[in-house]
Amino acid sequence: MRILFITHSFNSLTQRLYYELVARGHEISIEFDIADSVSEEAVSLFRPDLIIAPFLKRAIPESIWSRHLCLVVHPGIVGDRGPSALDWAIQNGVQEWGVTVLQAEAEMDAGPVWASARFLMRPARKASIYRNEVTEAALQAVLAAVDRKSATGFVPERVSGQAHALMRQSDRAIDWQADSSAAILAKLNAADGFPGVADELFGQPCHLFDAWPEGLLKGEPGSLLGRRETAICRATVDGAVWIGHIKRPGSIKLPATQAFPEAAELPALPLSGYRKSPMPTWQDIVYEEAAGVGFLSFEFYNGAMSTAQCQRLTEAFRWATTQPTKVIVLRGGSDFWSNGIHLNTIEAAESPADESWANINAIDDLAEAILRCETQLTVAAVGGNTGAGGCFLARAADFVWVRDGAVLNPHYKNMGNLFGSEFWTYLLPPRVGEAGAKAIMRHRLPMSAKEAVELAFYDACLPAPGFTVDVARRAAELAAAPDMAERLAAKQAKRQADEAIKPLAAYREDELKEMRRNFYGFDPSYHVARYHFVSRSAHSWTPRHLARHRDLDWKIPE
Ligand code: COA
Repeated sequence: MRILFITHSFNSLTQRLYYELVARGHEISIEFDIADSVSEEAVSLFRPDLIIAPFLKRAIPESIWSRHLCLVVHPGIVGDRGPSALDWAIQNGVQEWGVTVLQAEAEMDAGPVWASARFLMRPARKASIYRNEVTEAALQAVLAAVDRKSATGFVPERVSGQAHALMRQSDRAIDWQADSSAAILAKLNAADGFPGVADELFGQPCHLFDAWPEGLLKGEPGSLLGRRETAICRATVDGAVWIGHIKRPGSIKLPATQAFPEAAELPALPLSGYRKSPMPTWQDIVYEEAAGVGFLSFEFYNGAMSTAQCQRLTEAFRWATTQPTKVIVLRGGSDFWSNGIHLNTIEAAESPADESWANINAIDDLAEAILRCETQLTVAAVGGNTGAGGCFLARAADFVWVRDGAVLNPHYKNMGNLFGSEFWTYLLPPRVGEAGAKAIMRHRLPMSAKEAVELAFYDACLPAPGFTVDVARRAAELAAAPDMAERLAAKQAKRQADEAIKPLAAYREDELKEMRRNFYGFDPSYHVARYHFVSRSAHSWTPRHLARHRDLDWKIPE
């Protein structure tokens, strides 16, 4: 089928649907929902068999839905209507939720139902539920709806329902003198990553994001108890919670201590070492050990890795290599493995060019530490989505095992034509060939885990259910392998041989020469792209690699 996506943006759910439908032989083109006339033009150019709206913020115009079958993905159960669907479900603590695929009509979310899927809720942030449960359910429901469209005789059912209102900040407001920690976490989770909860800190208005539970600390409700790295801890009536990220009016979302430099005056509440704290608390880097395997998790918000985070993770990795293990598994975070350098902290720096330079050097230091590790075999367990530099950082490990369904974006070009670093020029060609490496870099489109393994870019695609357990089992088997000493010796010999041909320092220098031009050169594309990305600027056009119907040589197949 020829399927047109009309969507607010090419977000991760849309990317997942895109590559799954392409893998099933459908032809997909994408138009961002910019204006009714632009969507109408896309429909007349592409002449789709079906229109899907995976992520829309406003209604499809009647000029389109009255002439073409348009299926809208709604993140709510059958009968649920209206905005803030997930926000209400999380804040109201529902046990089960779902996704419905409805036919677009005049009234939002009220058209006949083509398919639906349900899932059990878990206590997590809205963005996390969206990237995981909602995305899986949306895929299931969209595939069912596409099958029903191809089959003859399917008649979608009209279901009655009640529309709920847009959730307002007054519905989200926290009363620090009355709300329990659990209630505050639920409110913050329901608002993360957008729009956050409006509140006040240091007497200034702001929006709060990225909440973590705290198991020990207590204090005067509402008071700030201290800081740890970039997060701040605030007392509640029955304990405390941590706030990791804050957006102040007129600014972008930033790590809490960067958004409020006054937080430096708060007492420091450091953790000692990297081992998992026995009580819930803010701990972004966690080390655990089992069966000869060290597991290093890094729960960095949105997978973005700032200069300081890269430095701390490098330190943690170096420490992990001194432990009596045979294998180190780099687990990343629960939603993202890594999305490369931290574009928000770069944007907020006094000199974004200097901060970009510091950040790329810090992430390269981490990649180099992984590449030079001689004492253990290393595994990147890519359970979450990963993009740009994060995809190549993972490749620095000896093995990359990726969860089926993860969305990979192994390219830098979308960020203002960045050349990229993280030793991709060393890591890619031996695996995928020179031409393959160039093709991956040029591609600009999301890649599935299966595709990454077929290309030999990554090593294994593991089923989504049980991914963590499967990784631990495989890593333990690796650690117990009788030929471990030979494997390590072979790894060292390969590194030495490679070093003799071209030292890692030379790869790094060549890549960074290009990056220096991206950061300091006369072409400002990277700085412009980063500004629009971190400001979440609305799209004013759809890039050509997505809007295939706008290719000059585009012809409707006979
Ligand atoms: N730095 C800072 N923030 C980042 C980030 C980065 N490298 N990558 C993603 N984010 C943030 C987004 O700003 C967004 O923030 P929000 O909390 O305001 O929603 C959040 O992560 C989710 O990103 P989004 O783009 O909505 O998610 P997605 O799953 O639809 O898309 C990517 C994923 C990776 C394709 C996309 O985020 C991206 O292109 N990131 C930039 C990668 C990059 O160029 N890195 C620098 C070069 S190494």
